[in-house]
Formats: sequence, structure tokens, C-alpha cells
Amino acid sequence: MAEEDTLIAQNTPRVGVILCECGGIIGNQINLEELEHQAAGLPGVVYTHHEAYPCSKDGQERLRQAIQDFNVERILIAGCSPRLVEKLFRKSIQNTSMDPGYLMVANIRELASQLHLIDHQTAFQKAMSIIETGVARLTTIQVSAPHYGKVQKKALVIGSDLRGLSVALALADKNIPVTVMDKADKPDDSIPNMQEYSDRMVGDRIRAAQNHPGITLLNDAQLISVYGHPGDYTVNIEQRNETTSVSAGAMIISNVAKTKTLGSGHWFDRSRVKTQTEFEIELENGLQGGGSLALKDVVFILCAEESQHQHCSRVCCNIGLKQAIRIKQLNPDTNVTVLFRELYLSGIGGSQEAEMIKARKMGVTFFRYRQQSPPVISDATIDIQDILTQEPVRIPYDKVILSMPLIPAEDTKTLSTLLGLPLDEYGFLAESRIRLRPGSYTDSGIYVLGSAQQPADTTEALFQAYLTSARALRFLNQETIRVESPVAMINPELCTGCGNCPQVCPVNAVHLERRDGILSLSTIDELLCIGCGNCVVVCPVKAISLPGWDNLEIPVQISAALNEARFKPGQSKILVLACEWSAYGAAETAGHKKITFPDNAHILRMNCSARFDPFHILWAFLNGADGIMLGACNPGECHYGMGNLYARERVEVLHEELASHNIDPRRLRLEFFNIQDGKKFSSILRDFEYQIENDMRDRGKMPAGVHMPVDSR
Ligand code: FES
Repeated sequence: MAEEDTLIAQNTPRVGVILCECGGIIGNQINLEELEHQAAGLPGVVYTHHEAYPCSKDGQERLRQAIQDFNVERILIAGCSPRLVEKLFRKSIQNTSMDPGYLMVANIRELASQLHLIDHQTAFQKAMSIIETGVARLTTIQVSAPHYGKVQKKALVIGSDLRGLSVALALADKNIPVTVMDKADKPDDSIPNMQEYSDRMVGDRIRAAQNHPGITLLNDAQLISVYGHPGDYTVNIEQRNETTSVSAGAMIISNVAKTKTLGSGHWFDRSRVKTQTEFEIELENGLQGGGSLALKDVVFILCAEESQHQHCSRVCCNIGLKQAIRIKQLNPDTNVTVLFRELYLSGIGGSQEAEMIKARKMGVTFFRYRQQSPPVISDATIDIQDILTQEPVRIPYDKVILSMPLIPAEDTKTLSTLLGLPLDEYGFLAESRIRLRPGSYTDSGIYVLGSAQQPADTTEALFQAYLTSARALRFLNQETIRVESPVAMINPELCTGCGNCPQVCPVNAVHLERRDGILSLSTIDELLCIGCGNCVVVCPVKAISLPGWDNLEIPVQISAALNEARFKPGQSKILVLACEWSAYGAAETAGHKKITFPDNAHILRMNCSARFDPFHILWAFLNGADGIMLGACNPGECHYGMGNLYARERVEVLHEELASHNIDPRRLRLEFFNIQDGKKFSSILRDFEYQIENDMRDRGKMPAGVHMPVDSR
């Protein structure tokens, strides 16, 4: 061995590789003895082992023992999905000599053994490629030291609806001072509350909050600015032209969705066509005025405008049923008809099916219509196509009640900007990591619940409130918070203070500071940084690093993934950089459902498409990639704000660059997925492989007839 190689070998961290048989799911498809043998030959690997279930209690104990006995500094566990077990393994080695950040799980189950069920050799090669890429990453990554911050034992609740007030009372009862602010001039005044029981529950809570010594209510209040980080926020609130400063360790956002109003563009008689909200007021007035309604024919149209807003508002069906029953109670002779597409009958105490049966017994008629042929409102009648008889039906009316969708409150966008929270495609605040941590927004001191996030009925509202109270309380009960996830770091020696990074940070964690001389300096609030990597990509002098996803760590994985030995002779090489929240999950879903995709596609797990770096893409082309597919979350669904939109812009620019250097821009593709898109992932990759190989044939790089249909592999 040359002297230089010896020096490198001496400095290479000691890596352990543990292979999981997964009770035979992997072990029956892949020769794990041979895989272990080949893994042992990878640079840096000092320990290998395979067993049935490394995630079992005994398996975890053996892992800790191996770290001690073999002085292992980094561990790769090749088994099932990292999203299932990585956290578990990291927790299990917390008290060993190894930093949990140096443990990585690589999926050889869905991405190798389950994908190539009948072709054991291909499954083996895929597993080996995944392990080689993982070891390459582990030998280069540097984990940053954890960051600590103090926790203010105070909370701010934005919104005074049922959820907001429930959380405020729960926290205040545990001696956490709470400020509740609302833009309305009295609590829960934003929309008439039409859900059964919720009126009374809100009333009770308003009285309790007003009398609670630990709760400060700020009505007619607006959020002006937010500074600080999880555990220690300073929030400026404007109230009647005066600014109040409030400090809080955690913020709970519960601003209420509003009902879409009926625009002025409708031709029909607005005195006879009402929204549910307007009709509720009429009903109340009718009841107060002696309890009779002189109506002959009333027609409810549920999902009246849903086609434009493809989300279910969840509360309209119950409200419609309740109103239909009340009309019948007020005047049994009124003909009441409900036109619906789907009935969502969840509610407090379980299903509201009994209400529908009650309505039918009282004589309410139900007709179902199709989305493609919605009811047509004429001057005095409504026409629909009955889907049971396929016959047209004409219904007379003297009052029509439309259920309008719930849409985000006006201040949702402002909150999203001030707090750096992503919006979903409908404009609600998007829940973070919904499939892994339902009910939580983040663990970082901001909690979003209720119709700030999506329309929710009373049961869901209460459920969310209790869940959020528990989470927020656990967070606030810490003395300090420890941030372990990778955060960006700036090298002050290299930073020129160009100002690119603060512009792209989704959570306002980067700031420019003046320093002596003409240059400014960027600084990062480590407790606020979410580690998306967007700033790393835009830094022109590479002064920013992101441990775990850094400029050295990604290229070594790319080189390993494109290792000639892992491809069949003459096969095209496709590299997939896949966001772990979408494309990587979609690939796993494909494997789980045994939907094959081309075996020459090698997938690298990325934190977010914000980290897709043109520099890495060029590196992959230089290292022999014939095609590169970038897989990002669907627009509006990026877990780090707008990483995917930045990625789209970067790819557009790169396409032009590639074309200007005579590289076919079609060799780089950006596709959007959600985690369940296994079939889409497979079909897009097949299509991409076909296009790449055709192109290679045209360029004479691949002899005619080499392409093999994926299914035959
Ligand atoms: Fe998937 Fe940002 S988290 S694209």
C-alpha cells in the first residue's frame, strides 16, 4: 500500500455494517453471507454481521456490544425503511461511545429484495450498491454538535376558537401563562358556530378563559413580527394602534377557517338562494320570532362549490342535516330535499348516521348527484339527474341553501410568512410529516391545529386540542431544548456577505451582520434552522456547509452509486436524487407493492429538493450518469417550504446551461411525487430509461437491440 493510501486508511472512520434478514423477507432473496463478505471489503468497514431482526431487543444489545468491542465509529444497518427504524436504532445507541448521528439505515428490502423477487442476482447487486453508497456516505460525513437553547415557560395561542381556548385552558391549568390573541374583537367571533354542541362548549370555555388568572386575552389583535427560535420567541402584537411585546416558548396557531361567501357573479335571486351561514341566521330569527317558517319547498345543495376546491369541508353535511331537521320541526308540511354527492357523517360521539335516519323519517328526501352533472338552479326549480333511475328530476323551491366550502382565514398567508410555515395547495398551513407524526406540526415549538390546517369538525377539533396541549406541555416543561438535526454552518473566513442565503431561507434563520471592512457576514440561528440546504446551494463561494448533506458527502455517494461494477454491461446508468419525504418514499412504496422499476436506476436519499445542487448534477454527468432524475414533493407539499419550487427554477436554468454545452437537457428530469406514488415512480422511470436508451442509441453509445424490457429482468 502506498504511503498516501495508508494515511487515508488510517484516517478513515471505522464502519460497521449490519445486515437484516427481516425474518426471511430479505434473507430468502439475497445471499446475505456473500453480501456480508463483500461489504467487509469496502473501505473503512471493520465489522460486519447479519441476523434475523437487528431491531429486536437482543439485536439492539448486540449492536451496542459491537460498538464497544470493535471500536466502531459509524454504523450502517441495511434492512427495511429508514423511516421505520432509524430513530429506534439511534435511540438505542444513545449511551454508547458513538454519536447517534453516525448511524444510518439503508433500505435493501423495498429497494432490492422486494423489487427483484425472481432475479436474485439483480437483487444482490442492488443491495450491494445501496450498501456501498451508504458506507461511502458514512466514511465522509461529519455530524455537528447539538445546539442548546433555553425554554420560556409561556405560550401564545393565536385564535380563540374551541381548539385555541381548549389548549389555552389546558396549559394555564398546568401553570403555564398563556396569551390568547385573536383578530376578532371578541373571542370566537369569526363565523357563526353551527356545529352541534360546539356553541355551548365555546361559551363555557370563553367564560373559563376570561376568569382564569393565567390567561391574558388580546382581542382585535394582529401579529406584527416574530423573532427568536423554538423555546424563546418574542412576538410583537398590534392591538388598537398599540404594540405589545409578548414572549413565548411555544406558539399554538388555531386561526379559524372561514366560509366562502357567495360572490356577486350569480344571477339567481339572492333573497331565495342562501348559504348555510346566512340561513342559520334566518333560522335563528325564525325561532326567536315565534317558531314558524313559512316555506313550502326547501332544497339543500351540499358540496355546492366543491369542484373548485377539491377538499372536503367536513362540517357542511352535518350542518345541512341539522338545518333540514329543524325546518321539519318548525313546519312538518315543508318539503325538504337534500341534494348531495357524498355524505360525510362523522361528528361528536361518532357517526351522525342516526341524524340522517331521523331526517328521512321526518320526510326529508335525499337525491344523489354526480360531480359531472351538478344541480342546475333555475328561476323556481332545480334540475338534477337522479343517478339511481338515470331520470331527470325537477324540484320546485322557494328557498335554496348552498353549502359553501371552508377556506383559509385571511391571515393564514401572513402567519405563514411571519412564522416560516409552508402552505398546502388549498392555502391552509401544511402539516409537517403527516404520515410519521399525525397530530403534530413540528416538535419545534410551533403547533398548528384545527381549521388553520384543514377543515375539521368538533370531534376532530377537540381531539387535536388535547393532543396539542400534551405536546406543547411536554415541550415547555423542558429546561433547555437540544437540536440534533443537521443545521447549516457558515465559515466566516469564506463568507463574502453577498446576501443570497437570507433571501432563500424558508424560516428566516439567516441574517446578515455588519463586520469591519466592506463585507457583511451571514449568521445562522442554529435553533431556528431546519436544515433544508437551500442556503448551501445558493452560496457562490461555498462558505456554507450542512453536515450530513454536505458538498463532499453527496458527491462520494454519487460516485459510489454510479460504480460500473453495479451495472450490467452496456446498460444505461440512471441516478435518482430523491427527496426522502416524497420520491424516496414513492420508490419504497413501489418496492412494497412489488411494482418493478428499472434496475439501472440507483437512488440517493436526499433531505429535500432544496438541496439538489447543480454542482452535484454536473458531477454525476462527469461520473458517467446517462440520465438523472430529481424527485421532489408535489408543489405546495415541500416539508421545508418552497424547496421544490427552487429546485424547479434551478433545473430550468440548468437545462439551458446543458443545452449550451451540447448536452441533451432531457437527460435531466425533475418529477414531483407524493409518498404513495409507487406506480407513478415506476412508470416515469421506465419512460425515462426508454428515452435515455433511445438517445444513447442515436448517439451510437449503445448498440441497437440492447434495451431489455424491465419485466424480463
Ligand atoms: Fe420534499 Fe422539500 S421536503 S421537496
